[in-house]
Amino acid sequence: MNNKFPKGFLWGAATSAHQVEGSTQNDWTQWEKDNAERIAMGAQDKWEKWQQEKFPEMFTAENYISGNACDHYNRFEEDFDLAKSGGHNAHRFSIEWSRIEPEEGIFDEKEIEHYRKVLVALRERGLEPFVTMWHWTNPVWIGEIGAWENNDTAKYFLRYAERICNEYKDLVKFWMPFNEPGSEVSLGYLFGNQPPGRKSKLGANAAFKNLMQAQKDTYKLVKSVSSDFQVGCSHFMFDIKPYNNLPWNIVAAKLMDYFANYRFFKAFNGSCDFFGIQYYQPFHVNFKLGGTFFGLFENKKIIKKQSDLGWQIFPEGIYNVLKKAAKNGKPIYITENGLADSTDRYRAEFIKEHLKYVQKAIADGVDIRGYFHWSLMDNFEFVEMRGFWPRFGLIEIDYKTLERKPRPSFYAYKEIIERNGLG
Ligand code: BGC
Repeated sequence: MNNKFPKGFLWGAATSAHQVEGSTQNDWTQWEKDNAERIAMGAQDKWEKWQQEKFPEMFTAENYISGNACDHYNRFEEDFDLAKSGGHNAHRFSIEWSRIEPEEGIFDEKEIEHYRKVLVALRERGLEPFVTMWHWTNPVWIGEIGAWENNDTAKYFLRYAERICNEYKDLVKFWMPFNEPGSEVSLGYLFGNQPPGRKSKLGANAAFKNLMQAQKDTYKLVKSVSSDFQVGCSHFMFDIKPYNNLPWNIVAAKLMDYFANYRFFKAFNGSCDFFGIQYYQPFHVNFKLGGTFFGLFENKKIIKKQSDLGWQIFPEGIYNVLKKAAKNGKPIYITENGLADSTDRYRAEFIKEHLKYVQKAIADGVDIRGYFHWSLMDNFEFVEMRGFWPRFGLIEIDYKTLERKPRPSFYAYKEIIERNGLG
């Protein structure tokens, strides 16, 4: 098999505003303050013994407060210098709506200027920007009206999207309106373990409907600003399989695949030019009351090699999800793939092995055009409010001094990028 990637393949890493910038004031910031203590106290029941011993910071409230995060807001140039030195030619990041429009209809010119500087800094370093307009956080005033459960939110979002799309039209080509709407709908509105902390089937349905509508409307809007712009859908994909051949597990896996994938593929139809696929781990579906998916299924751990979060490392899974996503007939960018690995013992191999399977999918004819590792640097892992202890970075952050230190895997990734292929 040819071990080169296609010419012009994009290589980079991804981040999101709330996870790296620091000092954000949005609906999550408030939620963190209100819930940090409770989450710290619950760590004992949530995590395995080995995780508790390895990461005692999970028992402190500070772990769950984003605070200054990586101070990327002030240090973005230094961070992009590092990305460039790692050979990257693209970078995915998000614009923080709450900075741009802190009050309804009031746009902050200083913040608009800030993100212009961010984009210019990327361009100066030869990094193609992939701009996410919304990576889960909302301005406080949007939180106060019920966030995505309120039909008006889609309308407000469109106004914000129109503003930034016009402001940065000279600097951006790739736009991703929403990061993984499905994850936020289920974790934030159905299970309530991240903001807005709702546990409501009706609420989740409304949020799903509004987000999908907003994706469609934003697609039209961005294309009306320039038909050259490329608009992406971002979708989280488990590699879903039944744990064994018991009929109820086979049915459960089909059901889960429907809810987690096909329902989105259908809804995304006609609202993007490319698919942003985000793959982390397999899901071996076992029917069990009280499980993690809809309270009905659990993910059976059958693979020994696991990340610090206990996620099974299964590179072949990326091939399976890419083949499935390819049926949508759109070009694909892998907009997230990574692992929490504080000692960097698996990351280099993880990247290489996953990329082998990306190549296999390309060899089968799947149109894959780029790979963004999650993440450029350690950050505030806000999914299910896990906080700072899971370390996803190619670059290590010392949260006391905010010093940046590229990990060995940063250089291993650089070699792959420089060859545009695997050795
Ligand atoms: C999210 C990121 C997150 C990563 C690791 C993705 O689902 O988009 O924000 O940090 O997963 O959990």
